[in-house]
Amino acid sequence: MIDLSVNINGFTLKNPIMPASGTFDKELAAIIDFNALGAIVTKTFTLDKRAGNPTPRACELPNAMLNAIGIPSKGIDYYISHTVPYYQQYSSPLIASISANTATDFGLIAKQLDTVKGIACIEANISCPNIEADGKAFAMQANSTSKVVKALRAATHLPLWVKLTPNTSDIVSVAQAAEAEGADAIIVGNTLLGMAIDITTRRPKLGNIMGGLSGPAIKPIMIRMVYQCYKHLSIPVIGCGGITTFEDVIEYFLAGSTAVQVGTANFIQPSTMTNMIHDLEDYCQKHNIHRLSELTGAVIDKKLPTITALPY
Ligand SMILES: Cc1cc2nc3c(=O)[nH]c(=O)nc-3n(C[C@H](O)[C@H](O)[C@H](O)COP(=O)(O)O)c2cc1C
Repeated sequence: MIDLSVNINGFTLKNPIMPASGTFDKELAAIIDFNALGAIVTKTFTLDKRAGNPTPRACELPNAMLNAIGIPSKGIDYYISHTVPYYQQYSSPLIASISANTATDFGLIAKQLDTVKGIACIEANISCPNIEADGKAFAMQANSTSKVVKALRAATHLPLWVKLTPNTSDIVSVAQAAEAEGADAIIVGNTLLGMAIDITTRRPKLGNIMGGLSGPAIKPIMIRMVYQCYKHLSIPVIGCGGITTFEDVIEYFLAGSTAVQVGTANFIQPSTMTNMIHDLEDYCQKHNIHRLSELTGAVIDKKLPTITALPY
């Protein structure tokens, strides 16, 4: 028997595969068995209703996509009255992804969710603009990360995952700030800020002008950040960015991930996540790995002694 289960700071998932927020919805139930997933992560919602960004909201790029959906949201009341009850039919734990413009509002959402039956964990998407700090994303800086995670931690007893942005010059300091304020895990991470222009119309390809880059093209950047965070943190790192195959999952584990989230690949092949779970089992079987979690951080990153002289 292969053990695919993972322990995220005391919260056990039967396997490490879950959707990345915003890339998964109820319609996928017609194609994959939600009960097979390690967890279900829903689209980020906010306290109040929001319309989202102007169209076009997404465009395809080589090995990537650019999106600026802008978190359209039906608000917390709808989430509690409709989304949570819907997902209760599935055995996989429900992870509620939340966002807000201020640390205070993040705390208000977390406090309301704290007692809602059926929510297993809060994922704080802190890659959104902080209106108290020039609109820069909370997770761009350690001090705004500290402030928001502190407010969240004080508001909830639920496991708290904090989703970081790669759009920062010092991911480790930001991750350490989240850890110091009581995050149970970090997710590394959200999309990379990008832009694309249509050379015929000379207009940006997105209505919002800039957007988030995702998909296979960003994987090496995110692997590097997972590795850096794993080396400097004690809490688990959940890897996310460009994961398309089980080989990508193994690579993320070796870099230091305890679990992973799959995003853009769900749009390309909706059965990606459930295929991966089977493929991971086969891989472990073939390579005599009894527990997938053994691979977390198992990259051999020391220079090996030279055995024979290189031919150059
Ligand atoms: C269309 C789209 C919508 C997204 N919406 C959200 C969201 O609501 N909340 C969030 O935290 N991340 C959101 N993301 C980011 C993904 O969750 C993920 O972090 C990112 O796409 C990198 O993973 P990938 O390369 O596997 O797609 C979205 C990504 C895409 C492509």
